[in-house]
Formats: sequence, C-alpha cells, structure tokens
Amino acid sequence: MLASELEEFHKRADAAEEGIREIKREIALLYHTQYVCTKCLLIKEKEKTIEKLQQENIKLKHRLEILKRTIETLKDKSSTMPNISESNDVISINNTLCKIFQKAINEAYPNVSNPPVIVTTSNNPKFGDYQCNSAMPLARQLSSGGTKKNPRDVANDIMSKLEKSVLIDKYEIAGAGFINIYLKRDFGQSTLSSWLKMNKVPPPYVKKKKVIVDFSSPNVAKEMHVGHLRSTIIGESISRLLEYLEHDVLRLNHVGDWGTQFGMLIAHLQDKFPNYSTITPPIQDLQAFYKESKTRFDSDEEFKKRAYQCVVKLQAFEPDITKAWKMICDVSRKEFEKVYTRLDIKLIERGESFYQKRMESIVKELESKNLLEEDNGRKVMWGEKHGNGIPLTIIKSDGGFTYDTSDMAAIKQRVEEEKAEWVIYVTDAGQSLHFQMLISCAKRADILKDFHRIDHVGFGVVLGEDKKKFKTRSGDTVKLTELLDEGLKRALQKLKEKERDKVLSEEELKTAQESVAYGCIKYADLLHNRNHEYVFSFDKMLEDKGNTAVYLLYALTRIRSIARTANITQEELRERVHDTPISLEHEKEWKLAKVLLKFPDVILSISQDLFLHPLCEFCYEISCAFMEFYDKCYCVEKDQAGVIVKIHMGRILLTEVTAIVLEKCFALLGLKPVQRM
Ligand code: ARG
Repeated sequence: MLASELEEFHKRADAAEEGIREIKREIALLYHTQYVCTKCLLIKEKEKTIEKLQQENIKLKHRLEILKRTIETLKDKSSTMPNISESNDVISINNTLCKIFQKAINEAYPNVSNPPVIVTTSNNPKFGDYQCNSAMPLARQLSSGGTKKNPRDVANDIMSKLEKSVLIDKYEIAGAGFINIYLKRDFGQSTLSSWLKMNKVPPPYVKKKKVIVDFSSPNVAKEMHVGHLRSTIIGESISRLLEYLEHDVLRLNHVGDWGTQFGMLIAHLQDKFPNYSTITPPIQDLQAFYKESKTRFDSDEEFKKRAYQCVVKLQAFEPDITKAWKMICDVSRKEFEKVYTRLDIKLIERGESFYQKRMESIVKELESKNLLEEDNGRKVMWGEKHGNGIPLTIIKSDGGFTYDTSDMAAIKQRVEEEKAEWVIYVTDAGQSLHFQMLISCAKRADILKDFHRIDHVGFGVVLGEDKKKFKTRSGDTVKLTELLDEGLKRALQKLKEKERDKVLSEEELKTAQESVAYGCIKYADLLHNRNHEYVFSFDKMLEDKGNTAVYLLYALTRIRSIARTANITQEELRERVHDTPISLEHEKEWKLAKVLLKFPDVILSISQDLFLHPLCEFCYEISCAFMEFYDKCYCVEKDQAGVIVKIHMGRILLTEVTAIVLEKCFALLGLKPVQRM
C-alpha cells in the first residue's frame, strides 16, 4: 500500500519536474525570438504556471521524504515481527503454521466455534517435519453437532483451504487424517543465511514488558545453601532469556537482611566486640557467630530481653545499632559476592530492610481497607477466598513484621513504583503456598490488576548421591564456596585424565577448568525439570558422554575448529556468507538445519512456562544432529598425504550457523564456551 503510494508520488514529482523543464525550454525559445513584446502576456502566464509547478514540486518532495521515512520505520518493525512475507529471520514456525491452519479450518468450517488447531513437530521423518492433528478432534466436534464426517474427509476439507506459504514445500494426508507438513529448503536456507549474515540469531518478537526477577535471595548470617544456588542459577538464566527477548528486566536480590535475628546478632556483637563501631570485628565465620548468639538467646533470659530491645532500636534506625547491623550485612555480602563473581551472576541487592518504611504504610493501608483480622493476638490477612490455604501474618503478636509483611510491601513497591508488569519469584517449591497467598492477598487489596503476571518459579530439593538431603559427611549443610572449589578440583582432574594439560597452555587449561566446573554445576541444575528434586553428583555431571556440559562444550569447540583446520579465517567466512548458499541438499544437512530452525519456538515456549530443561535438551539435539551430519558429509577433503584438496564452503557455513545457535543457547544457560579444551 505504502510502497505503491510512494511510487505514485515519485511519478508525480517526476512529471512536475519534466513540466518545469519543458516550460523553461519554451521560455528560452521565446526569449530567443524577436517577438518578445507580442508574446509578453503569454510569458507572464507561463511564469505563473512555473511558480505553481515549483510549489507543487516542493510539496511533493516533502511528502516523499515523509513517506520514505515511514517506510524505513515500518521495515525496521517488520524485521522483528514474525511476518512471513517481509522477513524470515526470526520466524516461529509453530506460530506461523498455527495461523495458516487456523485460517484454513475457519474457512472450511465457518460454523464451528473455537475449532482445535493442533500443530506439532513430527518425530518421525516419514510423517513430515511438522504435523497438523486437528482433523480427528474436529470430526468428533462435527459429529456431536450432528454432522457425520470421517476425519480423512475433514483433513481433505482443511487441505483444500490451505494457502501457499514460503515456509512450506508440501502437505499430505496420512493415516486416520493427519496432515503431514514438509518445510521448504529455500526457507531454511534463507533464514539460516540471514542469521549468518548478522552473525547472531535475532530474538523472536514478543510484546515488551517490565519484568522483575526476584532470585538468589539468601539470608544474612545464615548459610547460603544449595537451595539458594538453585535459585541463583535458574533466576540468572530466566533473566538472560528475558533480556534476550528485549524485556526491561530488573534482577533483584531480596536478601533476608531484616528481622528479629538481628536483635540477637547485635546484642552478641556488643558483648563480644564492644568497640565494634571503631574497629571492624573479625567475624568472618558469621555462621558460627550466629550459632553462638542463638544459643545465648535460647538459654539466657536477660540476653533475650536485650536482643528484643535491639530489634526495636534497629527498627527506629538508631545510629549505633544501625551501624552494627550494616557491619554484619557487609560481612555476609562479601561472602555472597564471591559466589556471584565466580558464577558470573548479575544482581541488584534490595533486601527486606529496603521495605521497612513501606511495611509500615502497607499495614496502614490494609487496616484502612479493613482487610486485617485478629487471630490470637496476630493480625492476619486472608486471600480472595476466605478459609483457603493459610492467611498471611501481617503483624505478629509482639507487634513485629514478618516475611509476609515484607513481601506485601515489596509487591506493592514493585508494581506501583517500579511499574513492573511481570514479577517472577524463584525459590524452592516449599514456598509455593506463601506465594499463592501473597498473590491472592495482593489481588484482594487491589494492588495487583488483571494485566499483572506473577509467577512463582519453584524448584525441588537437591539430594546427595545417597538420595538424602544434600549434606557434608559430618552432616552440616554444604558451603557454596567449598562446593565450587570441589568443582574446580574435579574439573582439573578430568582434564588431566584426558591429558589435556599436555596440549593446553597454562592459561587455556585454567579457562577450560573454570568453564567446565561452573558450567557443569549450572547445567546439571538446569537440565532437570525444576519441579523435580535432583541428585547432585560431580561424577555424573563431569561425564563427557550424554547430555552434559562437558560433552556440549567439547562439541562446540570441535564445531568451531572445523573452519580453523581448513585455514578459513573469520573474515573470509563473513565474506563467503554473501556469495555462498548454505548447503542443505544432503538429508543430514537438512536434518540439522531443521533442528536449528526450531530455535525461535524453543525460546518462545520457555519464555511462557519458564522451564529451562527444554533448552538443554535442544542443545543436545543440535549436537547430535551435528554429529550425524559431520559423520556423513565431508566439510574438508584431504588426500592421503593430508593435504587439503577440497573445501565444501556451503557446509562450513552450516557448521558456522550451528555454532552461532549453540553459543546463543550457552549464553542463556550461563555456559562459557572455550576456544580449546
Ligand atoms: N530469603 C528467602 C529464603 O531464603 C527467599 C526470598 C525470596 N523472595 C521473596 N520476595 N520472598 O527463603
């Protein structure tokens, strides 16, 4: 529409310009003749026409500029939208097929409301690349409405309405009424080529949102345990994924840095290090310090009383007490940060203490809305359905606030001040009732509106190899830094077993060691359905066969080395992308390409349900398809003396785009690829 309008304006502008030139020629001619006087009137008239034409020309040019700009912005937008005809860079094949079938089914059966549109990938190449399985349920739906039709006929009806698409090579009906869908290689080729040209996979289009991901969130002075490790790993990956999709993501560390435990910690600090305000006390082992104060708290009434007083003073922001509190938090923070740096985790600390003032005001608000109820001296709040679940405790019987109060204050701050449209909490599944109640209460208090999306991303517990709760041999909780150290040690052992220390430089070995150690811990966590508990086993996660980080890291270095052994530089590759088509003739080449083309769909589905294990499965699927391809298709041919005689550039390009997709997946999972390992 716009392009044709633009063409029309071009034509009119050209015509106007031609008119002007024509008249100028005439004037010159007229001046040239001797009959100036007699033609004078005529000239005046012509001059007027010139002026008009010139003005018209200026307007047209201006309009042309605007149109050009509009077209540019539209082009920009369409490249991020899954619009098949405009751009095929980031097409969600699933969504596109669903749209095509939806339309065909609606046309074939305009009277059926909400017809089932079922499109899946096919897991047997005999049945096409994708399948539409709508005919069977549709036939049932028709027969319950009184129209008897067998599913194969229904499939035929749908087929007759299917429109042509750049994605699809052919459709065919099979079995009881399945429609097999075959993708077009041209589409695959141009899509993968465009990724190569950009040297990245652009994200599929989604509506952008302001998202808060609340993850990691350990507690000051208490152990940062494997549960927090899971939250950290899962939360980081979810944040990376949402950032990739260009959402506006705020990563928050909701540290437990407020509450009654600080009373006893501060009281104990006052006794043990009376000059704490001038000299930083050596309490590196905060856990031990916590245990000592807890013992005193439980056995010494006098101490207990003083601890309570400290809490009151802390909540009143008394400077001396605040200083002690800050100091204790600093010690904890340094410990947490060590873990974050090692695992490459980015987080903004905004602990419970941040909400102190807001807790006071949320209590007032809930009270004024008559939402709080007396319960044995406590003030509680029920969710939308009274009596369902357990109520939130907003005020304890001693008047103090709770975890629930801080979460009510936080959710209000997040949606109202931060303008978050989506809040994601990543904690162990044990807290799911807490979050259900929180969401329900926030809705009841009219803090959450219909458009807000709130997810509790829960996860199961980590077990030791004895299938019992993960503990050290002596029965203590496992310290995270010690766990990471152990990972490093085991990774090095593994590399040495494979004699990699003999071929890698010291620096390469260290990079590989860290990548393997931290990568395997993260990957083992993300590989399992997060709802399930999983067994933490270094032996398993460090295996170099099967779906492990080690296997995948190796696979990527191998893929990356193919071009290198053929002596093709990255620069050359970047150039050849423009004149060489990716080779997709061989069955194995095409199979690998079809796996890669699923990437946008995998990403979209994960961003919906926030389960990351399908991304790990996808990585494994890519590397398996790659190995099959590499086994059957030579990329570089050598003679008996090992001299390169032929390079299949189209295949090298396929290896390159495989690496690009795999690297993107690694980046989302937090794996660091290495050049050599
Ligand atoms: N500190 C809590 C814990 O260790 C997790 C906090 C999760 N976030 C939240 N907003 N409640 O269990």
